[in-house]
Amino acid sequence: MKQITVSELTTEEKLRLICAEGFWYTVDLGGRLPTVCVSDGPAGLRAERTDVKGEKITVPAVAYPSVQSLANTWSEECAREMGACLADDCIERNVDILLAPGVNIKRHPLNGRNFEYFSEDPFLAGTLAKAYIEGLQTNGVGACLKHFCCNNLEYNRFHQSSEVDERTLREIYYKPFEIACEAKPVSAMCSYNRINGTYGSEYKKGLDVLRNEFGFDGAVYSDWDSVRDRTRAAKAGIDIEFPFNGQNYEKLVADYKAGMLSDRELDACAARVLRLAYTCEQMRKGKKAKTKTETRLQAARRIAQESMVLLKNDGILPLAHGARVAVSGCYAVPEADMVAGGGSSRVEWLGKGFDLSALLAERLGAPATYEKMFMYGNVVGHGAFGADPDKGLYYAASADAAVVCVGTGAPMEYESADRSDMRLPAAQERAIADLAAVNPNIVAVVFAGAAIDMSAWIDKVRAVVFAGFCGENGGAALADILTGKVNPSGKLSETFAVSIDKVPAANTYMDTRVTRYTEGLDVGYRYFDRHEKDVLFPFGHGLSYARFEYGDMQLKPSGDRVEVSFTIANTSQTDGQEVFQVYVREAAPLVYRPYKELKAFGKVKIAAGEKTTVKRTLNGSAFAHWSESESAWKITDGVYEILVGASSADIRLRKKLIIGNDKIAQA
Ligand code: BGC
Repeated sequence: MKQITVSELTTEEKLRLICAEGFWYTVDLGGRLPTVCVSDGPAGLRAERTDVKGEKITVPAVAYPSVQSLANTWSEECAREMGACLADDCIERNVDILLAPGVNIKRHPLNGRNFEYFSEDPFLAGTLAKAYIEGLQTNGVGACLKHFCCNNLEYNRFHQSSEVDERTLREIYYKPFEIACEAKPVSAMCSYNRINGTYGSEYKKGLDVLRNEFGFDGAVYSDWDSVRDRTRAAKAGIDIEFPFNGQNYEKLVADYKAGMLSDRELDACAARVLRLAYTCEQMRKGKKAKTKTETRLQAARRIAQESMVLLKNDGILPLAHGARVAVSGCYAVPEADMVAGGGSSRVEWLGKGFDLSALLAERLGAPATYEKMFMYGNVVGHGAFGADPDKGLYYAASADAAVVCVGTGAPMEYESADRSDMRLPAAQERAIADLAAVNPNIVAVVFAGAAIDMSAWIDKVRAVVFAGFCGENGGAALADILTGKVNPSGKLSETFAVSIDKVPAANTYMDTRVTRYTEGLDVGYRYFDRHEKDVLFPFGHGLSYARFEYGDMQLKPSGDRVEVSFTIANTSQTDGQEVFQVYVREAAPLVYRPYKELKAFGKVKIAAGEKTTVKRTLNGSAFAHWSESESAWKITDGVYEILVGASSADIRLRKKLIIGNDKIAQA
């Protein structure tokens, strides 16, 4: 069919085109234009359909690990694979665009949507998002980069204004969008909040940066019901308002007639909607799902394996074959909401979930007991509603080890509100303490979508595994990790502060409508580095059953680039994977710089006793900062240090280099 151009549309058609059809579709101009069907969400498809009785249902789909868990893999391969699997889920349900990924920075550990976001670090978030988008789009399904921009708390999200200076926007909050745009996402979504006083749906200044500087050439749509004034939104470059809002549409038509929206502005939006429809059609052409559901469930398990972070281990893990384990905590036999966050990304699980005690018994070849001990949710108290703590303690007292599964879940982490506490509910902390009193061999497994304050119990347990929101096949992955069938290789994509009063954003000004980002560039590890503050677990931390040694670091400059190489040896008897991190710091900056910043990373498989050489090339952008005075990226002449680490706090190798006249040289 011949493609329609804007000049062939009437004004009425254009005005209609830039407002959605219902909740999840774009308009089809009476059958002349392919429609685009969009659906949530990042960690599984949430397609809403109407059943035979006319009732709205959510179609069950594979539940993958949450984006936060995906980020803990530090693996572009995992991100690409998850994108590819999600594309197949979408193709089978006739969904053209998945409303994902979200790349907002984790500025505050209590943000209710942290589980939907990648990291506190823009480079890690942007790089993994780029791979996720490539996975989706090369397999025929469009991505939607969201939420632009500075949607870092759910508190009063429809009104609050994120007050951020331009340099911090460029280096921290825009950066993941900039990097992800390299994968050419077909669409982007604005945020609900205001940015320096302007609603996300009217944020022309930022949308111009997205389009003119980051090379974004897709369509931008509103977040659902975020438009206050359709005309102002169109003028800012919001191409489609989702969902269809009759009142807003009528006002738009009236405003157009009154000359408040120019033809040039209307045409620009309409042209981008046309392009979106044709791009999606082209992308989908001839594409069939490449994988079966079972294959995707296996991928969900593999990604979950790589996402689990062994935070602490004094040698109790992996559990020895034949060990009799007492499993407790309701998260060991979860329903969907318990190991997932709530809101628009909620997935209706395909399968029934898992039973960790059964999985452990099978792998260990020994009987395992199970008692939930505490109720799900924020229920404080003991022994209430079917949980029997005494029974749990009785089982634990005679077991070789006690695995206690604690966490948050959808009632505590969900879209539209923030977590009230960084600690676990009191009943859960109490269960850990009581178990530790009857058996010293405690392994705590934490199911959560964000950092947890563990100060009440961390010293009472011998090991902690952060299982994140691991998806429906996460139980099998966890059993593999606990029993050593799989060597843990996840690392934290965010700092775990000791407690909420110690986080950088805890003390910044926030009233009902204004949040000032006074910590500026010092988000996450950048802050803890700067102020030399202790943390519970640093950014990039994660243990393994293997041991890795770093060595032979070399820098090979060439023009405005430098190749960084080093070796990693697995000096243990266990095969494993290591996540390495390359940070850059300016040794004596005249312009304020964070102490160090992540500029490259990777994950390598290294067999027991083997050694591998890793190479990464850093270009000028790894050394640049945003100059407020020149409104441009600048590389300052001076001495820089390249730091290679196993975590942000465990730097193993360092070497200096000199930059002068845009050339890099050995120091
Ligand atoms: C969320 C978006 C989501 C949309 C559609 C909004 O409430 O902020 O992330 O894609 O709903 O469900």
